Parts: sequence; structure tokens; C-alpha cells
Amino acid sequence: MSHNTFGHLFRFTTFGESHGPAIGCVIDGCPPGLEIDATEIKVQLVRRATGKSRYTSQRREKDDVQILSGVFKGKTTGTPIALLIENTDAKSKDYENIKRQFRPGHADFTYWKKYGLRDYRGGGRSSARETTMRVAAGAIARKWLKVNHGVEIQGWLAQLGPIRTDKNMRWETIEDNPFFCPDPDKVPELESFMDALRKSGDSVGARVNVVARNVPVGLGAPVYGKLDADLASAMMSINAAKGVEIGAGFDCIAQKGTQHRDEMTKEGFLSNHAGGILGGISSGQDVLVSTAFKPTSSLRIPCRGLDIDGNEVEVVTHGRHDPCVGIRATPIVEAMLALVLMDHVLRHRAQNG
Ligand SMILES: Cc1cc2nc3c(=O)[nH]c(=O)nc-3n(C[C@H](O)[C@H](O)[C@H](O)COP(=O)(O)O)c2cc1C
Repeated sequence: MSHNTFGHLFRFTTFGESHGPAIGCVIDGCPPGLEIDATEIKVQLVRRATGKSRYTSQRREKDDVQILSGVFKGKTTGTPIALLIENTDAKSKDYENIKRQFRPGHADFTYWKKYGLRDYRGGGRSSARETTMRVAAGAIARKWLKVNHGVEIQGWLAQLGPIRTDKNMRWETIEDNPFFCPDPDKVPELESFMDALRKSGDSVGARVNVVARNVPVGLGAPVYGKLDADLASAMMSINAAKGVEIGAGFDCIAQKGTQHRDEMTKEGFLSNHAGGILGGISSGQDVLVSTAFKPTSSLRIPCRGLDIDGNEVEVVTHGRHDPCVGIRATPIVEAMLALVLMDHVLRHRAQNG
């Protein structure tokens, strides 16, 4: 299975499966001299972790990250940074019954058709366990962007099923609840919705937004290296992502040009429908990205499916699953945004000095 590497000048390669002994990544291209330690990486990993509330999968991984190389006396050396996390709470038995079956909506069918075999335990490589390493690599990119350019990145849950949570945003409350919800008044509604959903055995989709502030002007290239194209690719590479919008996104369909264009004055832009990117290049405005996540496909509610011999079967999925993957996606979209921006800062520096 190739294509496990992301980025150009700041690039990382992830490895590992959900129920294998460990997951890890190798980050190449990080400039020397950045102060980083495992505790800082762990802060982000904890934000992404399962088992923190009754609204996520109850798998409990310690996510203790080991820095195997590339950091000496607390500073990056400019050599490859290898990170490793052991899987300590996999329960592979739960997946015995889907060994020969394809879960509708999951990657089982396509993995089988493409590779002729698959690690069915916990979804193997298709599991969002892989995103742990994106968050770990993203923690380093985030720190570098903050130290060198003052870039601040914050994501939030903008919608869960029918519930919009972004009308009365209070930024300081995002980390105070298990949903990354920016409106504390909406949290009880989310809780009762999720309690009823969990009881019913069903799942639901979500929208997760992210903003990067203090992004330098000039990141991205006009044709095949557009910042918005790379961001869309990065977000779509996350498991269960089904749509990405930049700035006004699909709302631009109904907008008039007079409304959409972001007028400029000496004091700056008067609006930000562009989402901080014009002609594929960052404008210095906030970079705004929105990602739609589909409902989890592993459900205990029976459905019609096929097995590997082509027989029609009833598929029921056991094991520990997220009833709404969007609840844990916020740190992942933040990481992907940081990883793209850092790569583009280095690419910009390489061409423009
Ligand atoms: C944070 C996160 C958690 C997820 N948790 C689950 C899960 O518990 N069960 C599941 O079936 N899918 C889960 N998924 C989604 C699957 O990984 C994904 O649907 C699968 O790999 C198929 O890929 P696709 O949905 O991109 O087509 C999760 C995704 C994310 C981003």
C-alpha cells in the first residue's frame, strides 16, 4: 500500500494499523532548533483521544508518544523525527464477524477489491487510529508556525446532525465540553441528541470548521500548488470526510459578485468570503476551512450487505465505535491545516527567500 506520505518540504509518512502493535510516523524537513517534547505533542493527542466522554468510542488508548529520533536536548536537529505510539487497548475479537463481510459505508469492500486481502481488525489501516499520527505531526507544525509566525489555529464543531452550534460563538468555551462546541448553550441539546442517538444504535454526520489566524501573505502557488487545493486535499484525506469548503464555500452559489467580493480599504479587507485565499495564494486574512463528515458506518442496527464470496448477508457491527466521528475530528482538521501551512511556508521560503 503506497501513498502514505503527505507534504513536500515538510513531509510526514504514517504507518500502522488500528490493532497492530503500534502506529507511528516519520517527519522529514522540520527545520532545526524548534523546542519540542513529548508532553506538548501529548496535549494535542489527548484532545483527539477516544473514551473521554460517553459520546465517543470507549476504546482507551494511553497515546504515550515516544520520540525516537530527530530531537536532541529538547530541540529538533533537522534530521527525521520518528514518533511511535503503542496500541494498548485493541479488542480484535469484536471484529470476527465482519472478517468475511463488507460493512456498507466502510472501506472493507474497496480494500478487498483493490488489494485482495485486508486487516479487518478495527478497520486496519482504514481506521481513524491513523489520524493519531497526523495530530502528533501537526503538533510540531503548529508549534513551529506559532513560534515563527504567530499563527494561531482553532477548530470547532459547527453542526452535529440538525443542530447548528455556530450562531453564538464563544471562543473561550470550545475546550470546555466534549464536543468542541463553541456555544455553551447548545451543549445540553447536543448531549440529549447524542444520548438518544446512542440508544437507537444509529450515527450522524457533522460539520467541523477551522480557522488559522496570522497566516503570512503569499503562501501557495497559482496553478498546481494552490493553497486552497492543498487544503481541500488534506481535509478530504481524513477518514469519513465528504465535503470541504473554503471561506463562503458552497454559499457562493447564491451570492452576487457585489456581495461575495471582499472589498479592500487602507485598513484592510471588509469581509472574508474568500476564506483568506485569492488565486491560490494566502491574502493575510484568516484562512477558513469547513469539512463535512459522514455518519459512522459501523452500526449495530442490521443492514443488507455482501460477504467476500458474493453472498447477500445481514451485517451487524460490534465493537466500540464513534456514534458521530465529527465529535473527535476537530483536532484532526486543526492538524491538517497546520501541516499544510507549514509545508507552504517552507515552499514559499524556498522559492521567494
Ligand atoms: C475521528 C474519527 C473517528 C472515526 N471513528 C469511526 C468508528 O468508530 N467506526 C467507524 O466505522 N468509522 C469511524 N470513522 C470513519 C472511518 O474511518 C471511515 O468511514 C472509513 O475509513 C471509510 O473511509 P471513508 O468514510 O473516508 O470512505 C472515524 C473517522 C474519524 C475521522
